[in-house]
Amino acid sequence: MTKVTYIIDGEPTVIEFEHGKVPYSNHGRPESFLDLAKHFHVPLEHACGGSCACTTCHVIIREGEENLSEMQDDEADRLDTAWGLTAQSRLGCQAVISGDVVCELPMYTRNYVQEGGGIQLGKSTKKDRKAQEVTP
Ligand code: FES
Repeated sequence: MTKVTYIIDGEPTVIEFEHGKVPYSNHGRPESFLDLAKHFHVPLEHACGGSCACTTCHVIIREGEENLSEMQDDEADRLDTAWGLTAQSRLGCQAVISGDVVCELPMYTRNYVQEGGGIQLGKSTKKDRKAQEVTP
């Protein structure tokens, strides 16, 4: 079994799967972070359905980078446009998993979910947003 850990808001969500046994979710490359997230109901966002046309599936690899498929040119080009890009960044729909790996969702992605699709930069929270709404 291969173990994949998604760190969301500092909390790990761990899934385990057997290669070749998970039905394809029609999102991203088979056995990518996004494909597995869809199957196991992990809230990894995808604005383009996993076709390497956005950056909402951006993940930062914390462990197990050697257990991922090599980055292709189209993924690298798309990642260049991602907010909060790091040397450990990958697109969740393009990085195919071959062994245990740990990834973290960047803060903007978590806000994207919490705010219903509007991208918020930085560490703004709903409480911050409410404060901004009442400020003239
Ligand atoms: Fe759009 Fe991955 S879901 S690039």
